[in-house]
Amino acid sequence: MRTLIRGGTVVNPAGPQPADVLIDGETIAGVVSPAVAAELTADEVIDAAGCYVIPGGVDAHTHMQMPFGGTTASDTFETGTAAAAWGGTTTIIDFAIQTPGEVVPECLERWHAKAAGVCAIDYSFHMILGGVSDDSLKAMDYLIDHEGVSSFKLFMAYPGVYYSDDGQILRAMQQAAGNGAVIMMHAENGIAIDVLAAQAAARGDTAPLYHGLTRPAALEAEATHRAIALAEVAGGTPLYIVHMSATEALTEVSAARSRGANVFAETCPQYLYLTLEDQLGAPGFEGAKWVCSTPLRSKHEPHARDLWRGLRTDDLAVVSTDHCPFCFKDQKEMGRGDFRKIPNGIGGVEHRMQLIYQGVADGQLSLARWVETCATTPARMFGLYPRKGVIAPGSDADVVIYDPAGVTRLSVETHHMNMDYSAYEGREVAGSVRTVLSRGARVIDGGRFHGRAGHGKFQPRGLSTYLR
Ligand code: URP
Ligand code: ZN
Ligand code: ZN
Repeated sequence: MRTLIRGGTVVNPAGPQPADVLIDGETIAGVVSPAVAAELTADEVIDAAGCYVIPGGVDAHTHMQMPFGGTTASDTFETGTAAAAWGGTTTIIDFAIQTPGEVVPECLERWHAKAAGVCAIDYSFHMILGGVSDDSLKAMDYLIDHEGVSSFKLFMAYPGVYYSDDGQILRAMQQAAGNGAVIMMHAENGIAIDVLAAQAAARGDTAPLYHGLTRPAALEAEATHRAIALAEVAGGTPLYIVHMSATEALTEVSAARSRGANVFAETCPQYLYLTLEDQLGAPGFEGAKWVCSTPLRSKHEPHARDLWRGLRTDDLAVVSTDHCPFCFKDQKEMGRGDFRKIPNGIGGVEHRMQLIYQGVADGQLSLARWVETCATTPARMFGLYPRKGVIAPGSDADVVIYDPAGVTRLSVETHHMNMDYSAYEGREVAGSVRTVLSRGARVIDGGRFHGRAGHGKFQPRGLSTYLR
């Protein structure tokens, strides 16, 4: 089956160009000038006049049905990948999890069993190493060579859960320096945070706001600095700092990158749009909806402005969502009376492409940078490029037709994520997703879901193409 997407503006990292896109089966067969396309025949023609034709979004940080904080993230692989498709994301990279003492390949198998046969879009896995040991270090090599898993997340936060100490982190980084893996780091000083959180609770400061106040930016920056130092000591291990929220942490990354270090970082829409005061500090227990780590930052400090700047300058390479949804009822409510018991996470996999396009409409980012940070760079960073992340001959036909004249209203009434609230309730963003193709198959079109649970396939990944 041949499909021609006609009359649109194709946007790749090289910039926008008027072009038609020919799809043959699951693959892009050609990107051609409209004059040449007039000669082509196809079984189906999609009119994209007035629209952008962009590579399907690659969300490199999601947690479908993640067991966390005494409960489980409320989107399954089925509901979460369908919601992602509604928003123009056609690939997610989720996290398989190893906890101390568990055998890493067995953990990966468990996550395969959760996702296999139910995803609406393609998916892949990073591995969380919750227990660094001789066996788990050896397993890193095995996962890279045999399982298509080439990135490993470590935590400097959450003592007693996923936390690794500096020695464990150094050992994992040394292993990665040898095998080419990317180390993804949750960079917050969890030991110091736990002291501050216990002190706040002892004072009776138990509202959700204190989740943010006990995780100061200085402790994100300190951990970021330490992670960079450890990666340099380990021999230049590629290091990717996840969910960056603070100016001070970004400064550490910028300095390391200026030295030529293999250091990268992502941010997420919540840190660009939501704040400590307006969301986390909402009256009563409402702020629990926005408890996530790293936390939302103060609107009286320049974090969001600086994160946008980082996205422009490439000190922030990627926008992911860290999608980790919990319902307010019964899940977030577990922390009434003690913010430490609120499960950490925000859902947003459906809204990333629109929220970052709003940055284009606001003059924060170019069209090319929108596509690069949301699709191309995550694909390159994590070994999916050029199969994913670009509109080019030979790439998978993961294509989004995006209407810049549309408006999308974000609300629990209309979203498709399995959450009983929206972190962005009532917000209107520029543009709307008109059509989404995943490997040539229509998943979203004309406001309807045409996808199928099980269409999405596991994507084995190679090494990052950003290694220096
Ligand atoms: O609050 C968050 N970020 N929850 C998900 C787990 C993590 O640390 O990424
Ligand atoms: Zn994290
Ligand atoms: Zn996460």
